[in-house]
Amino acid sequence: MQELKPDVYSIRAIDWDRRLFDELIPLPEGTTYNAYLVEGSDKTALLDTADPTKTGTLMSSLVASGIDRIDYVVSHHAEQDHSGSIPTVLARYPDAKVVTNAKCESMLMDLLHLDGDKFLTIADGQMLPLGGKTLQFFDIPWVHWPETLCTYLQEDRILFPCDFFGSHLATSSLYVDDEPLVYESAKRYYAEIMMPFRPVIKKNLEKLSKLQIDMIAPSHGPVYNRPEIILNAYKDWVGDQVKNEVVLAYVSMHESTKLMVEHFSKALIQRGLAVKQFNLTTVDLGRLAIALVDAATIVLGSPTVLTGAHPKAAYAAFVANALRPKTRFASIIGSFGWGGKMVEQLAGLLTNLKVELIPPVIAKGQPKETDFAALDGLADQILAKHQAAGIAK
Ligand code: FEO
Repeated sequence: MQELKPDVYSIRAIDWDRRLFDELIPLPEGTTYNAYLVEGSDKTALLDTADPTKTGTLMSSLVASGIDRIDYVVSHHAEQDHSGSIPTVLARYPDAKVVTNAKCESMLMDLLHLDGDKFLTIADGQMLPLGGKTLQFFDIPWVHWPETLCTYLQEDRILFPCDFFGSHLATSSLYVDDEPLVYESAKRYYAEIMMPFRPVIKKNLEKLSKLQIDMIAPSHGPVYNRPEIILNAYKDWVGDQVKNEVVLAYVSMHESTKLMVEHFSKALIQRGLAVKQFNLTTVDLGRLAIALVDAATIVLGSPTVLTGAHPKAAYAAFVANALRPKTRFASIIGSFGWGGKMVEQLAGLLTNLKVELIPPVIAKGQPKETDFAALDGLADQILAKHQAAGIAK
């Protein structure tokens, strides 16, 4: 346990080796599962627990620190990386009540098979005095599940927002000491799981802006002792402004699509647009997600295979559609040998995006001068759209 403030402690389980979350999301920097302990003069509360793979670490920390009584286990979020050790905590501290809102309570009963009589159900804005320390709870739904709440410790002005503002970053530093690294990790985290819920997250930010916050202690990654770093970053990410950038995600089989991508990329750069190019055979999905946070335009590049889009291009389109970035424009480039429905398939996978689809450029076989000229035309159109949107000169 490490002290954040008198009688307020961080209990971290550092997972240096985890490389995948949800069997989907790359974790190049590992992660931490952060619990916190708040000791009042009357009651002691544990805020969240740890992933089931790290239950032993959490319990060892509690025992080694001589914690012989826990009255409340606050569960901010039912997902198992924070709730999964609750049954073990309750077995060790059988008088503890699980404090959470009604929705999270219902989910915890489904996911962990906890009995209803173990809960103390609280409402949005409710306070829980511990004796000299007062916890206040606020619902912050859809960061990234519907039930999530946060705790504000009034006397110390610490916000415990669970996943919200977190970062998957295994580090021995309790506090943010490498701001660019934490910024990148937090942006990756936002992009991968928060971005689909951008409108609700905006409302949650407004709600929390009424609090005086001196410190933000999330459930993943280091603690922010300068909260403005992450609050300003989130305001930027959830805002409506897009950047003069084109995400160009492609796969190529026999070089035709690659030749088009290379030409198109140069054409965009010559016109002053920033290009973020991703080869989908080797892409880190997180880096693609980060690029989608700000880019005004996404262009998918695919050959035609098995009569349709290359499955890796379809996967990228599916993921982009699920992440719902604020991207404004989209297009498709690629090639075919004798026919197929590549364009229709990819366009049909982007229905969640509020984008204007700029007419695709598709070459038959290896691209010819007319195809390269069409790519120049596509770059001109994208530039004109960005200029009209006020983000390009
Ligand atoms: Fe860190 Fe949504 O769990």
